[in-house]
Parts: sequence; structure tokens; C-alpha cells
Amino acid sequence: MADSEKLGLDFNEATARGLERLYSTPDVARQRSHVLAALALRAGEVTLDVGTGPGLLTADMAEMVGAAGVVSGIDQSEPMVAMSRERCKDQPWVDVQVGEATDLPYQDGVFDAAVATQVYEYVADVDLALSELCRVLRHGGRALVLDTDWDSLIWNNSDPLRMRRVLDAWNEHSQHPSLPQTLSGRLKRAGFQIVARDIIPMFNPEYHAHSYSIGILDGIRAFVPGHNGVTEEEALDWAADLRVLGEAGEYFFSVNRYLFLAVKPGLPSEG
Ligand SMILES: C[S@@+](CC[C@H](N)C(=O)[O-])C[C@H]1O[C@@H](n2cnc3c(N)ncnc32)[C@H](O)[C@@H]1O
Repeated sequence: MADSEKLGLDFNEATARGLERLYSTPDVARQRSHVLAALALRAGEVTLDVGTGPGLLTADMAEMVGAAGVVSGIDQSEPMVAMSRERCKDQPWVDVQVGEATDLPYQDGVFDAAVATQVYEYVADVDLALSELCRVLRHGGRALVLDTDWDSLIWNNSDPLRMRRVLDAWNEHSQHPSLPQTLSGRLKRAGFQIVARDIIPMFNPEYHAHSYSIGILDGIRAFVPGHNGVTEEEALDWAADLRVLGEAGEYFFSVNRYLFLAVKPGLPSEG
């Protein structure tokens, strides 16, 4: 592990099941629709999904490119790879393997399009990962990168100091909790031309069990004990406060994800 790397979220089997539930909420399904619309995959395209996670986006990409296309997927976590393979087992043009975003096992210039949603915020050397992404795209190929900015979070609560302590602890779950703020510069330095940027809010103004914020609440509650001095009891009290406010009709949650669509410029001779 590099010196600068934090001990963040462990993408084990339990996390894989939790993420599958979280990513099946209408909030994250809406995000996937947005991503697919921006990427505008065509039948027959050769595509890459970096950090497939549970494989929900991978399966949707496979649907769009069809049997004449290819979806290669890569994830560092074996349970995530197993889940993605199972989800795409009836789409034999999908190939998911264990691998590292900073060392993609593909030749230069082979992909028409590539996505990495909610992945680079977990990668310590994000600049290396972006230059790998650029390397494997063909000239004119497009890349879509999406990450959360936890600085954008608003969550109504009755103890702002405790909320701050818990959120500072939660910021330790990833390598770059506010990555979108620096993504424009990083993408350009990696060799990309940015063609579009968009904001995708996760907005839950009401308390619903099957929502992004209630899913992430459980994830935060499980992660924070032992981080930034937060105890198990404090984490339980923090979560209980949000549920009580929710049941009293006082719920309000909002956090933003940011989408970047970029292309690898054509060869200079292509004018
Ligand atoms: C939050 S999930 C996102 C999953 C998926 N992209 C989606 O949006 O549905 C992050 C995934 O990135 C993977 N990941 C994190 N760091 C990685 C790295 N350095 N190389 C490859 N995969 C990585 C994790 O194992 C996990 O499956």
C-alpha cells in the first residue's frame, strides 16, 4: 500500500451485497439512465467498465452494444467480479476479470468507449488510472467518469457537531472524498478533451426505506466506528437521530455526484 493510501472501504462479499441493494434503489437506477444517455453506446461498440461493482451498469451496457459488441469489465474485488459475471451470464459478449484500474490488462487504443462510475474516488493514484483509461481508448473514443463530492452533502440532523464527526470519519472510506472538484484538470492532464459535465443529485426529501440515503446511512453507520474517534454507540445514536427525524416528517438529504464526458483527441494528422 502506498504511504498516501488510506484503509478505506473493504469491497468484500458483505459490501458487494450492500452495494447491490443500494444500487438497485430508484435513485441510483436514475443515475444509470443518465450515464447511459450521456455515453450513447451504439450496437457493436467495444466498451470497458472499470470497477464493475455488482455489474448493474455492465449489464445495461451489454444490452446497448448487443451481441455484436463487447463489454470488458474489470474490478479489483473477487466478490464483485463474481457478482458481475453472474448478472451477465446470459450476455456472453461480456467478459469481467479481476484487475487494477491503474494497470489495465488491455492493449492500447482498443475501446470505443469506457466508463468508471464511483471508482476513481477509491483509487489512490487516480492520475495513473486516468492515463491508463486514455491509453486503452482509441483516438476519438469517449470516456465517462462519475464520482461523488461528499463536501456537497446536506443531511438534516439534531446534533451538527456529532454529524461533523461522523462525516469526517466517513471521509476516510475513500481516497478522494471530493474528487469531482479536481477531475477537470486531472482529465486534461491525462490527455482527454472534456465535452460535457453534469450534476446528478441524490435527493431524498422524504424518508423511504428503499432510497439511496437510507442505504448509505447503514453503510456509514457500519463503517465509522473506529474512525476519527467515533464509537459504536455514537454511530448508533447518529443513525437513530436521522430515523427519528425521518419518522417525524423532518427528513432531508441531498448529495451530488458529478459526471464528466471526455474524448481522447484524434491523431494530429487527422486534422
Ligand atoms: C462503489 S463501487 C461502483 C461500482 C460500479 N462502477 C457502479 O457504479 O455500479 C466501486 C467499485 O470499484 C472497485 N475498485 C475500487 N478501486 C479499484 C481499483 N484500484 N481497481 C479496480 N477496481 C477498483 C471496487 O472493488 C468496487 O467494486
